[in-house]
Amino acid sequence: IPVPTNQPCWNYVPGTESAIKLKQACEKMRKELPYDVPLIINGKEVRNGKKKEQLICSDHKNVLCKFDVVDENLIQKAVDGAMKAKKHWEELPFETRAGIFLKAADLMVGKYRYEMMASTILGQGKNVWQAEIDCIAELADFLRFNVKFAEEIYSMQPKINPAGMWNRVEYRPLEGFVLAITPFNFTAIGGNLPTSPAILGNVSLWKPSSTSILSNYIFAKILQEAGLPDGVIQFIPGSGSVIGRTLLSNKNLGGVHFTGSTEVFKHIWMEAAKFTMDTYKSYPRIVGETGGKNYHFIHESADLDHVANSTVRGAYEYQGQKCSATSRMYVPKNVWPKLREKLEAIIKQIKMGQSDDFSVFMSAVIDKASFDNIKNYIEGAKKDPDSEVIIGGKCDDSVGWFVEPTVILTKNPKSKTMVEEIFGPVLTIYLYDPDKYEETLDLCDNTSEYGLCGAIFAQERNALDYAVKRLRNTAGNFYINDKSTGSVVGQQPFGGARASGNNQKAGAIINLLNWCSPRSIKENF
Ligand code: SER
Repeated sequence: IPVPTNQPCWNYVPGTESAIKLKQACEKMRKELPYDVPLIINGKEVRNGKKKEQLICSDHKNVLCKFDVVDENLIQKAVDGAMKAKKHWEELPFETRAGIFLKAADLMVGKYRYEMMASTILGQGKNVWQAEIDCIAELADFLRFNVKFAEEIYSMQPKINPAGMWNRVEYRPLEGFVLAITPFNFTAIGGNLPTSPAILGNVSLWKPSSTSILSNYIFAKILQEAGLPDGVIQFIPGSGSVIGRTLLSNKNLGGVHFTGSTEVFKHIWMEAAKFTMDTYKSYPRIVGETGGKNYHFIHESADLDHVANSTVRGAYEYQGQKCSATSRMYVPKNVWPKLREKLEAIIKQIKMGQSDDFSVFMSAVIDKASFDNIKNYIEGAKKDPDSEVIIGGKCDDSVGWFVEPTVILTKNPKSKTMVEEIFGPVLTIYLYDPDKYEETLDLCDNTSEYGLCGAIFAQERNALDYAVKRLRNTAGNFYINDKSTGSVVGQQPFGGARASGNNQKAGAIINLLNWCSPRSIKENF
């Protein structure tokens, strides 16, 4: 297996061939919409006439695609087909499985680059750069690194073989299927969750988010072209409650690979616990990565230009819709006037608009529900006597679901916008007395239930070292002088504990270990 390196990112500089081709791909997509997206069950396109729509979020009068949704009969058909496909798939040599996913990565960054990009840009409201780091770079990295991690797992063997004996471990796939439930905000996560178990010989039923259908479907077709046998990954968009109800009680459920809201993950966990051995053959493996209330904590020695730039990127790139997005910040009172000026100057320059306008930094949020939710938080802050909206705050859904980059200043470290996940371009700031640096750090720990990402910004070594220790349990991804977003596969395994999930680290060997059930074999000669 080749030693993977991170897929280099392209910049699509205006006037270059890549920018021209991408523009053409977006224009073609706008001309051809709405696309018709079927389910893929046992390798066949299935249409059952029950359609839903994915809209262009920055231009919501336009339907990007109409897609079929599964019902209970089709879900059963998908389970039966997957369990049948499993028999052949798990017997294939690892190299054969590996080759399919490595080829899929190459197809994606090559032949299908512009289609993947255009569908992520228009469908999920990502600007060019955000689409590139997601559906090209991160997805290719997930595929290539996971294949390498699988090889490492297979090579983990007992070190001791006394005379006349051979000890070995066979990393069997799980006995059942894996249910992969994926979010809209990263095409890469959409691709990662069903494929990482499959690399190890499992079969997956993939329920993509209804707001990222087109890019996810294109990826499912790429897997087919790369040679994935029929039935190994079933592409089944549909209602979360129908799919959950049907599959979480299925005796062949081997595991759930989930990224999404904390609330849904808690539900999955409880459903799985309720049935246990009476229903399942084995305890299902439940892996979930959920929300965050990610912080930047600023020490008075921090480089303020760097803080301002990093915070604007962490809070507003992709409209704050990353589970890792910076959404609260602690700032010493004595540096605030300077930092405020710098933040205002940068935020003033932010250009918002259609996601396929290559000059925009921000576009619309994903849908009406999300827009309404973010707006409620902003309106709530306006009414809160302890809080003040100091930058932005306007919401406009006349063309697309646009929310301005917003900064709220609060006197209450437990105010709603300081502790709850908003999943939008809203940053709340709390000012603290610099003499109380050490005890203020505890606010990162005890005011929010999440434990995903956090960052400390300081130039004084002692202040840094102290924070690294005191903030130990607050984040599964901790950054020193860097923003809370932007983990890279193979460099910073991603995931958090507490209400942020069970920290099984996407893009790491620890994640793949969930998808095998090892058998120890002792042979006497
Ligand atoms: N891995 C992404 C980030 O770190 C979030 O899923 O921003």
